Amino acid sequence: MASQTDPSITIDIPLTRDDHILIKHQITQGLLGNPKTLPSKLFYDERGSILFEQICTLPEYYQTRTEHHLLTKWADEIISLSGAEELVELGSGAATKTRVLLDAMAKADQLRYYVPFDVDESIVRRVSEELAWEYPGLQIHGVVGDFLFHLEHIPEGGRRLVVILGGTIGNLLPVAAREFLVSVNTEMASGDFFLLGVQLITDRSRLEAAYNDKQGITAKFNKNIIRVLCDNFGSHADPEAFDHVARYNEDEHRIEMWLRSREEQILDIPAVDLRVHFKQGEEVRTEISTKYDHPLTEELLASSGFELVKWYCDPNNLIGLALAQKP
Ligand SMILES: C[S@@+](CC[C@H](N)C(=O)[O-])C[C@H]1O[C@@H](n2cnc3c(N)ncnc32)[C@H](O)[C@@H]1O
Repeated sequence: MASQTDPSITIDIPLTRDDHILIKHQITQGLLGNPKTLPSKLFYDERGSILFEQICTLPEYYQTRTEHHLLTKWADEIISLSGAEELVELGSGAATKTRVLLDAMAKADQLRYYVPFDVDESIVRRVSEELAWEYPGLQIHGVVGDFLFHLEHIPEGGRRLVVILGGTIGNLLPVAAREFLVSVNTEMASGDFFLLGVQLITDRSRLEAAYNDKQGITAKFNKNIIRVLCDNFGSHADPEAFDHVARYNEDEHRIEMWLRSREEQILDIPAVDLRVHFKQGEEVRTEISTKYDHPLTEELLASSGFELVKWYCDPNNLIGLALAQKP
């Protein structure tokens, strides 16, 4: 389904009945698994996206400002090397840092087309309207979909730069991350560029502090997944019956976010005909955020068909930006 709100904006919503069946299947499989898990894309309804924007401004959450600085430093070079006229952003969210790339494209007189792709419809619509106003003449084609299933909805365009920022790739298990990037590569033309932002392996205390902020915004974000189960899947669960837990798993070099049941309870999800028993203290994993390093990133890119062109990283080795190309 495509809808037109402004002559410069097209919004494509490829979600079908099959996708609703799929998400229900993912919820059921996850909650019946060991450990119990929930798909992290469920965080992102309108409220979840706003909470994530707040997380990005927290003093503990060094990731966003570090990636922003790196982009500011290297955007001109990235845009010049890529020659891109079309920017495709997967998991675009509020697209705050994206403006740095759009500005560089405008400066180089290369800015024609922007494709924000996100699972949350409210944020794709908001960002499209904001950017249409901020960049007169820019054509925007928003896609509201799951980037693991709907990449073919990225419109054909000129020379493209595809970007994934904000550590979004780390939310996928390594095998899924590789499969995803193989699909991204398949959608791209030979010579197109790809910019992947990765959060780098660093010390446990810095990482755990970033996901356990003092204001409790990350805890609210984590519990929002229960609210989404209530709003969209008929659950009666109380988000406050769970505690937010975030810890670093050193073996898998990833932060794991869990919700820990404060009491023995049943989590009911009528839309999938499921009632899941939780013991007091039992946890459900809601998100992973895998941390990478330069060799792991290069290996991930090479195994999904990309050639690394340039590696950018901040002086404290916290964030990496890998500029790659489809040969
Ligand atoms: C970690 S946030 C990053 C947001 C933004 N790119 C940034 O750098 O701040 C992940 C974004 O990916 C979106 N997302 C998560 N899973 C998705 C999926 N399967 N398909 C499409 N978008 C997804 C979320 O809605 C969210 O906006």
